[in-house]
Amino acid sequence: MTRLLLRGRLLSFHRMPESLDDRASYLYEEDGGLLIEDGVIAAVGDYASVRAEAPEGTAEIDHRPHLILPGFIDTHIHFPQMQVIGSYAANLLEWLNTYTFPEECRFVESAHAGRIATHLFDELLRHGTTTAAAYCSVHKTSADAFFAESLKRGTCMIGGKVMMDRNAPQGLLDTPETGYDETRAVIDEWHGRGRNHVAITPRFAITSTPRQMEAAAALAREFPDLHIQTHLSENDEEIRYTGELYPEASDYTDIYARYGLLRPKALLGHCIHLSEREADVLSDTGAVAVHCPTSNLFLGSGLMPLKKLIGREKPVTVSVATDIGGGSSYSMLRTMDEAYKVQQLLGERLNPLESFWLLTRGNAEAVALADRIGSLDPGTDADLVVLDASATPAMALKMEVVGSLADELFLLQTLGDDRAVAETYVAGRPAKSSIATIAS
Ligand code: GUN
Ligand code: ZN
Repeated sequence: MTRLLLRGRLLSFHRMPESLDDRASYLYEEDGGLLIEDGVIAAVGDYASVRAEAPEGTAEIDHRPHLILPGFIDTHIHFPQMQVIGSYAANLLEWLNTYTFPEECRFVESAHAGRIATHLFDELLRHGTTTAAAYCSVHKTSADAFFAESLKRGTCMIGGKVMMDRNAPQGLLDTPETGYDETRAVIDEWHGRGRNHVAITPRFAITSTPRQMEAAAALAREFPDLHIQTHLSENDEEIRYTGELYPEASDYTDIYARYGLLRPKALLGHCIHLSEREADVLSDTGAVAVHCPTSNLFLGSGLMPLKKLIGREKPVTVSVATDIGGGSSYSMLRTMDEAYKVQQLLGERLNPLESFWLLTRGNAEAVALADRIGSLDPGTDADLVVLDASATPAMALKMEVVGSLADELFLLQTLGDDRAVAETYVAGRPAKSSIATIAS
């Protein structure tokens, strides 16, 4: 058995904090100990008592004065868009047609997909992200590369071969039949292998014919426990065109509802412009509205009413994500900074405890994996991020006047990025410090 004892300031959420004073919503140990056995958290508490429990000779790493949290979870990212990030476009549809679709065509080549997968996992782990829900490209090769890399790294990942059979270049189209068959093949080969989870992934209604939506519906029926990923209500022009393509649906959400794609573990990217009726449907079905603030601002898509969705009489489950390459940062800290600003513009407050709950347990609950990730609860996997709130000169200076945990978290979110991630652990193994520094 491999054992490791970590020492540091521990923070883990039990549930969503109701306010900044909601001390009962989280565990905080000023001098904490975290005992890891074979990649699983075996004990958590104050250092002295956990140390006393640990067998003689247990290796120890002292991360004081840094914070140790569950690893961040990114609930929406596009693996084939690492070289799309930062592309200059007026809006979503122009960005997709001009940069994104041509770039994704390259993932038919397994050598290219393999190279980018290596970079993706390096980048995620450098930023403290230990789980992500990723769209691969339409090509099965891309899903193979993504899951093979995840298996190698020992990470808990969600991913899917994108299904798309219209409104894109020929090199990026499958058919209802091949979309179905290849998704099944990816499920057979990768779901449950290592810590991998396969998601049924129709890209969005614009790029799937009704016949392909039927195929996605069939997969959803045959695999009721799988995640589903798609995009919903991101951009005005997208919503208008989608309505033309599916005139029988009462609104955008109704399209996915008609094909049985709304349920818990259905991750719906963006959800910016939903009507009250649509929000009710998400609430009733348990589908998740995934907020991608850096992308929404970068593409000018709009301001997602995150707090309003959470606070409704019929609440909607929400999560947060980067949406690389529409998003402009791999950092979940930068993501929460932008999420905060979006809520400010909507006249709402997103407090730092809520932010860090979202990054960890909130996102874990949204993807229905809280029994394995998202907390420091004993029995869960030791995917961790170690945060240094004094990582840069500007942060260190501000830290001189920071007087509370909440203020420290807010500083991390406001000024932090990958430099604030002192270490990342995947199943108890250091995963940031072990990244090769020479680019392949
Ligand atoms: N809608 C359909 N595909 C995409 C994508 O790749 N990125 C974003 N942001 N929206 C989409
Ligand atoms: Zn997306």
